[in-house]
Amino acid sequence: MSFSDNQSLHVPVEQGVPRTRSLDSTLKLLSEGYPFFQRRCAELDTDVFTTRLMGRRAVCVSGHEAARMFWQPNRFTRRGAIPPTTLMLLQDVGSAQTLDGEDHRHRKAMMMSLQTPGDRARMVTIAQEEWRAHFARWPTLRRVTLFDETESVLCAAACRWAGIPPSHIDRPRLAQEFSAMIDGAGNVFRRTMRGLLLRRRTEAWAKGLIEAVRAGQVAPEPGSPLAVIARHRDRDEQPLGVDIAANELINVLRPVVAVARFIVFGAHAMHEYPEWRPRIATGDDAALTAFAQEVRRCYPFFPAVGGRVLNAFVWRGLHFAEGTWVLFDMHGTNHDPRLWPEPQRFKPERFMAWQSDSFDLVPQGGGDYLTGHRCPGEAMTVDLVKTALHLLASEVVYTVPRQDLSIDLSRMPTGPASRFQIEVAPPVR
Ligand code: HEM
Repeated sequence: MSFSDNQSLHVPVEQGVPRTRSLDSTLKLLSEGYPFFQRRCAELDTDVFTTRLMGRRAVCVSGHEAARMFWQPNRFTRRGAIPPTTLMLLQDVGSAQTLDGEDHRHRKAMMMSLQTPGDRARMVTIAQEEWRAHFARWPTLRRVTLFDETESVLCAAACRWAGIPPSHIDRPRLAQEFSAMIDGAGNVFRRTMRGLLLRRRTEAWAKGLIEAVRAGQVAPEPGSPLAVIARHRDRDEQPLGVDIAANELINVLRPVVAVARFIVFGAHAMHEYPEWRPRIATGDDAALTAFAQEVRRCYPFFPAVGGRVLNAFVWRGLHFAEGTWVLFDMHGTNHDPRLWPEPQRFKPERFMAWQSDSFDLVPQGGGDYLTGHRCPGEAMTVDLVKTALHLLASEVVYTVPRQDLSIDLSRMPTGPASRFQIEVAPPVR
C-alpha cells in the first residue's frame, strides 16, 4: 500500500458511495448501452456509485468534477482497466495507451508530433481530394450509403497522409478491416470475433510495412507517420519492437476511419436541423466549428473509459486505494445538465462563445494531451468533420429518402440504423 497516514483516515470509496442492487451489472450495461451510467446516477441520486462488472467491483463516476479527478496526470493507468478484447481491437498491447509516467510521455510526444497544424492541414487537403473523387462517381449510383462511403474516403485519406505507398494500399480490404475493429470494440461476441480475425490481416500488413521501411525497401516521406513510427526510439534508445510499431501505425490509421461515425452523425444533424445547412455550405468557420463540436457532444461514440488507480488519492473525502477500478462516464458527462443546459437538445449555438477548461467536453477524453491519455487526434477529428460537412453541403445536391434513421443507444458503438442513405442528383447536362 502506498497511501499516507492522512489518506488512511478517509472513508474507502467503496464504502462511502451508493451501490447498485444487482449482484453483477454486466448484462444490464450491455442491454442498456450508453444510458446505463446516467440511469444509475439518477436512481441513486449521485454522480459516484459502485457496481460489479464482469465480476469485478467498479467505481463509476460522472460529471465535470469527476473529469477533473479522473484526468490528473499519473493518477490512473489504463492497464487492466479496459476489457482485453476492446484493448486488442483498439490500441493494443505495448501502445501509448498502455504506458504510464515518463515512458508514456515520451511515446505520446511522438504521437503528438504527428498532429501539428501542418500535419492537420495536409490531412484536410488529402481528405478533400478523396471526397471529390468519391463525389464524381456518386451520380451514377442510384443510392449512396453515406456511412460506407465515408469509411472508404477516410481509409484512403489516412493511408496517404501516413505516407503509405499506393502499391501497399488495398483500400476496400483495409476499410473493411478498420471498420470491423471499431464495430467489434463494444464487446459483443460475434462482432468482436470478426474484428479480431480481420485485425490479424491488418497487423501482418502493418508489420510488413515497418520491416520494409527499416530494410530500406520502402522510403516514406520524412516526417510522415510511417517514417516517424518506423524509426521511433523509446526512452531506452531502442527502436520499437516490430509488433508495437505496427500497432502504433494502426493506431493512427484506424481512428481516422472511426471519424466516419461523427461525419454521418453530422449529416444526420444537418438533415434534422436544415436551418444550419446554408451556413455550413458557405464555409462559415465559427458555425462549422460549433456544429462539429455539438455533434461530438450530442451523438454517442465511446460510452465510458476505464482507469485503475496507480497512486492512491483522496477525492471528496473518499479514499481511492491503489488498484481500484474506476469507470468514467463520457456519454453521461456530455449530457450532464449541470454542464450543458437542455443537454438533449442539439444546439450548436452553445459552442459559439465557448471556452473549454479541458474537462467539460469529453468525447475523446479530458485534461492534458501530453501528460495524460487524452486523444491526440481530437483536433484532427474536428477538422475532418468540418471538411466533410462543408463539402457535402456545398458540392453535392442530394435528398434523404425515407429510411430508418433511428440510433439504437443499446448498441455500442452505434449509428443510424440505415447507415444514412442519400440520393444524389444527376449532373446537369
Ligand atoms: C472518432 C474519433 C475519435 C474518438 C471518439 C476517439 C476517442 C478516444 C478516446 C476516448 C481515447 C482514450 C482517452 C483516455 O484514455 O483517457 C483516445 C485515445 C487515443 N486516440 Fe483517439 N479518438 C478518435 C480519433 C482519433 C484520431 C483521429 C487519432 C489519431 C490519428 C487517435 C489516436 C488516439 C491515440 C493514439 C490514443 C491513445 C492516447 C494515450 O493513451 O495517450 N484518435 N481516443
